[in-house]
Amino acid sequence: MCGIIGYSGERSACSVCLTALANLEYRGYDSAGVALWEGDTVQVIKAQGRLSCLRERLGQGHGASRCGIGHTRWATHGSPTDINSHPHRQGRVTLVHNGIIENYLELRAELETLGYRFVSETDSEIAAALIDSCYVRSGSPLEAIGAAMERLEGSYAFAILFDGEPGVVYGVRKGSPLIAAVDDTGCFLASDLPAVLGYTREHYLLGEGEVVRGEGTQVCFWDRELRPLSKKRITAEWSMEEAQKGGYDYFMLKEIHEQPRALRDTVLPRLRDGLPDFTADGLPEGFFRNIRKLNIAACGTALYCGMVGKALIERLARIPVEVDMASELRYRNPILGENEAAVIISQSGETADSLAALRLFKERGIPVIAIVNVVGSSIAREADYCLYTYAGPEIAVASTKAYSVQVAMMYLLAILAAGDKGVEEAARRSETADLLRVISLTPRVLEMYDQIGRYAATLRDAHSLFYIGRGLDYSLAMEGALKLKEISYIHCEAYAAGELKHGTISLITEGTPVIALATQADLLPKTLSNIREVKARGARVLLVTMEGLPVDDTACDEKIVLPAVDGRFAPLLLVIALQIIALNAAIVRGCDVDKPRNLAKSVTVE
Ligand code: M6R
Repeated sequence: MCGIIGYSGERSACSVCLTALANLEYRGYDSAGVALWEGDTVQVIKAQGRLSCLRERLGQGHGASRCGIGHTRWATHGSPTDINSHPHRQGRVTLVHNGIIENYLELRAELETLGYRFVSETDSEIAAALIDSCYVRSGSPLEAIGAAMERLEGSYAFAILFDGEPGVVYGVRKGSPLIAAVDDTGCFLASDLPAVLGYTREHYLLGEGEVVRGEGTQVCFWDRELRPLSKKRITAEWSMEEAQKGGYDYFMLKEIHEQPRALRDTVLPRLRDGLPDFTADGLPEGFFRNIRKLNIAACGTALYCGMVGKALIERLARIPVEVDMASELRYRNPILGENEAAVIISQSGETADSLAALRLFKERGIPVIAIVNVVGSSIAREADYCLYTYAGPEIAVASTKAYSVQVAMMYLLAILAAGDKGVEEAARRSETADLLRVISLTPRVLEMYDQIGRYAATLRDAHSLFYIGRGLDYSLAMEGALKLKEISYIHCEAYAAGELKHGTISLITEGTPVIALATQADLLPKTLSNIREVKARGARVLLVTMEGLPVDDTACDEKIVLPAVDGRFAPLLLVIALQIIALNAAIVRGCDVDKPRNLAKSVTVE
């Protein structure tokens, strides 16, 4: 939530900030702003709305500044107005903030007694005043940051300019991501790699409570006790091309098409002699041997992946799996025992609730495996074992390729755990071969893009829609419904097909669109009966099924038939069709596909 950037060097700071903010806009796009050192003063320019509004306000000026900070906002405290936009300035401190200061009201009252007056409704302006009050006392930016950290509760990544140190940018993080990067012209502070990939791949990851000072090509680090720190420079594996649209109209469209590649990149390095092997990831051999129960926690799409994981692991390895929304788990005092393990699934590796769930498991002595896409993210760093997915940067707010690779990881873990629990090698080999086969079939679903898109176009005026399915199809129904709601704004509910008649079927009237998923052979007769029940009440049914399954055309109005695979592997094909439906529904409804309203890619607040 919110993207921040800072730059000091030979380039135009204004142009660096605008470029970086364009690549960070997926983190929030309610407003944008910059603060630039111009002569002896810091100029703040900000505008409500998309980055284009800020560009317009900046006009052709401000190109001479060589040091500045910038922000793209996902509003938490205060509506998305010019005044609430960042940067915020108090006294001799100007800053941009990503995160939430939880004790801001208490700090505000205290700072008002010192004479500070606030113009915005934000917690960030309070943080600026707090740091300024510490700066007034110490005269040292570093000490001011250290003292402010003692008082700030909540999460933050700041990029800060101090009057008195022109051309210098400071940064600090706790609970929100921040990296420092360098090229031969200067240094950058940023929320995320895509912000700086156009300039450099060389970067440093800041740990909790760490502080950075950047001036030109010189970057220095301190730990939370303000002791100097020497940090390892990392070369990013992601390239700028990967973080751009590459000829596609939308990031989401590009990312949907990248799935066959992402799946291969994630799965193939984890196979040895035809079986899953995670030793190169650091997961000890026989990890699951003594595990009695697994606990999966995640949010949104990653949560729905966890539900698929539960079905796969329980079926193959016979280990009981509990799946929790991370936001609920953290406040329900879960019952955890010996010989349990946890799996946290997160594309960004920064989701606040998932990170809190991870910490809860660790506090309770439960070993945590993280499945994460963003290298060096907080969840990746804090987990006991991190299994990276290799989806590459996912920019569209709607998650697509990240889900598929997470699901692929669930197959691999299920097969691995099955081995630890004594399932015969021949069965595990055959599962692994089936996984590879389904990956090789994913391009065939992409070839059905136009057919699936034509159905989606019929949803242009839809107000409400139901996804139904049983077993794995139900987990996929939830993912399909989330995707559709998120980007097309059509109200949509996912229902277990057998549960409909316990209430929800009363919402089915003449013409109500229903998307029925029927890829599970053993459940097919039951699912078809449920489809007939809604059809009899006037629903317009799209049936998504697989070649070779005996479905009678009278059960539906339209049909999408996916390549034949065993039902266990259907999720990897099915999800692509559901993503294409959501994307095309959003396009015909004129929605902003990559940046849906009210959302942000990385949810670093509770
Ligand atoms: O980065 P994470 O995987 O932890 O994000 C979790 C959810 O916020 C995310 O999956 C969200 O639901 C997506 N926008 C859905 O497309």
